Amino acid sequence: MLTFEEISAHRAADRAMANAAKKQIETRRVRVEDKFIINGKADVNQLVPFKYNWAWDKYLAACANHWMPQEVNMQRDVELWKNPNGLSSAERLIVIRNLGFFSTADSLAANNIVLGTYRHITAPECRQYLLRQAFEEAIHTHAYQYIVESLGLDEGEIFNAYHEIQSIAEKDAFLMPFIDTLINPAFKTGTVENDQKLLKSLIVFACIMEGLFFYVGFVQILALGRQNKLVGASEQYQYILRDESMHCNFGMDMINTIKLENPHLWTPEFKEELGELMRKAVNLEYAYAEDTMPHGVLGLNASMFKEYLRFIANRRCQQIGLEQLFPGATNPFPWMSEVIDLKKEKNFFETRVTEYQTGGTLSWD
Ligand SMILES: [Fe+2]
Ligand SMILES: [Fe+2]
Repeated sequence: MLTFEEISAHRAADRAMANAAKKQIETRRVRVEDKFIINGKADVNQLVPFKYNWAWDKYLAACANHWMPQEVNMQRDVELWKNPNGLSSAERLIVIRNLGFFSTADSLAANNIVLGTYRHITAPECRQYLLRQAFEEAIHTHAYQYIVESLGLDEGEIFNAYHEIQSIAEKDAFLMPFIDTLINPAFKTGTVENDQKLLKSLIVFACIMEGLFFYVGFVQILALGRQNKLVGASEQYQYILRDESMHCNFGMDMINTIKLENPHLWTPEFKEELGELMRKAVNLEYAYAEDTMPHGVLGLNASMFKEYLRFIANRRCQQIGLEQLFPGATNPFPWMSEVIDLKKEKNFFETRVTEYQTGGTLSWD
């Protein structure tokens, strides 16, 4: 038989255990101040409370922009491609080289997100956007495959171009070490050296791959569309460009927030290194422009692209707080800014796209 004192002591012990358990449960609840983009301590499985509202807003906007390639009619493109007089040989070369780069680039992008970036990012709002972005990269690869299939192109030639065409191979070879860093299973953040490696890879990916290496290709196909050629492919590229400019902006928001949270990473040597990478990327993209349009076509020539790439490189540098590399560069393709800014309703070709549609459909009038 227990004494009154013994029973009281047991009860007190039970209460203490219950309180400790309750406290432990409560301490697992996420506090906004424990969330960080990298090296965060908060549970990544708890999306809320929100800290990075910009990431959540971009996730919502991206879902509202949902589209699928097969919703775009390719009939006129097919007729034009099959007509021997439909396109010049220079125009056909542009299309083949263009798809040669893009058809594998978006698979690289998807792999980089899913196998690399995602696991190093500890903000669940950002992870949510990255999941959406990964699906959009799959849609882009689908779009290129759909164009290749619709036009009856040689899929081996297109999809293997990143091994066979030097200017494409060199762009990808530039990117690969940065993707490999993030994908390497042994790579972990948490030291200055590795956090800088991660930040550098994020910058290469958002500002150079999505922010620069896609742009010669976008200009080329959209320029064809402006001349009423390959309008179906052009429509798809408009959607892809809209997605990519959001990927690029999201990446830069993430980069700038990591900088704010970890100012010690942003050293003069680091900035110097980034400037050099950007210069190298401009040269590689320019070589690609020359390779895809050796004699100039569609009212475009290589020197216009040189200026355009310098203009874009300046913008990317400014957007992440680096000095401009090519002061005074101007935009020779002002119409591209209009295509990127699809928030307003605009007439491009003979169709018109409205942003922020919901329900998975696009409305065209
Ligand atoms: Fe993409
Ligand atoms: Fe992308």
